[in-house]
Amino acid sequence: MLERINALLAEVADAAVRGEEDLESFRLKFLSKKGLISDLFEEFRNVSAAEKKEIGQKLNLLKQSALEKYNLLKSGVMVSETGTESEDLTKPSYPFALGSRHPISIVRNEIISIFGRIGFTVSEGPEIEDDDHNFTKLNFAPEHPARDMQDTFYISRISPEESSSGDILLRTHTSSVQVRVMQGQKPPIRTISPGRVFRNEAISARAHCIFHQVEALYVDENVSFADLRQTLLFFAREMYGKDVKIRLRPSYFPFTEPSAEMDISCTICGGKGCNVCKYTGWVEVLGCGMVHPAVLEACGIDSRKYTGFALGMGIERPAMLKYQVNDLRLYFENDIRFLEQFRTAY
Ligand code: DAH
Repeated sequence: MLERINALLAEVADAAVRGEEDLESFRLKFLSKKGLISDLFEEFRNVSAAEKKEIGQKLNLLKQSALEKYNLLKSGVMVSETGTESEDLTKPSYPFALGSRHPISIVRNEIISIFGRIGFTVSEGPEIEDDDHNFTKLNFAPEHPARDMQDTFYISRISPEESSSGDILLRTHTSSVQVRVMQGQKPPIRTISPGRVFRNEAISARAHCIFHQVEALYVDENVSFADLRQTLLFFAREMYGKDVKIRLRPSYFPFTEPSAEMDISCTICGGKGCNVCKYTGWVEVLGCGMVHPAVLEACGIDSRKYTGFALGMGIERPAMLKYQVNDLRLYFENDIRFLEQFRTAY
């Protein structure tokens, strides 16, 4: 009998359970009324007086060990079911990839922050626009080529009888947000509108059918071209460095009069001439001008009392210059090897 008790002691010591079912089997086998230990106590009655002491002690030890083991296993099952025991808190964590901001977002945020420092707030408008906000109120003549199917993605053609706001389209520029802001606010207005724009262009290293622009609008009493020029100089110096030079060339946009295009001295060669500036020393970065009185009036602003300036720029081009990216398509492919290179504080 002693040998059997010793064997059971060893079995109890080695016992392991994998869940509640195993635990219950352990209990039934050792501790229940019909279990092995109970049987042994039955048998113990017939043990001779000489052996009683030794066997009795061993049997009690077995019962004690089985109980302790049962309690230990039980708490183990409960803990592993709540999942905490299996976590090794000293284990090194799995390495995980940290994302980085998209270069277009970095440059957009930089532009927002520069204009924010001189009081421009951010406003947004819809990407799905109507003809009225994208063209008509911006003084585009009905036969203006920009309205053509070649440039504009139309969603639905709407006759003037159906709705005075005209066709539904994907906005071709963020100037449409100017209109919405002027319709909804009284001057003074000082706002910038970053966003996505769409044009039906063949995709190449230098052009895409989806790209990004930022529009700026300043309307108040006595806003002059000098204010525009000074704002442009401030922006260029903040964006491209204090040594950058700007140059304004006369241009034409239906919604500004006079209109200009701004070039900056090439940031790659410092103006000496390279293939980025096509050996001219200058790179075109934005369009601008004084808001056309017809646009102010169309948006409900008195053009005798108020004047304003507006400017619009793409984001892809400055981002290409800043990061020396030579193919615009890289911005849209979201190849992780490309994106990973843009770790910055912005
Ligand atoms: N909307 C023009 C474009 O997409 C850019 C532009 C030019 C915006 C002159 C302006 C501006 O506000 O005054 O090419």
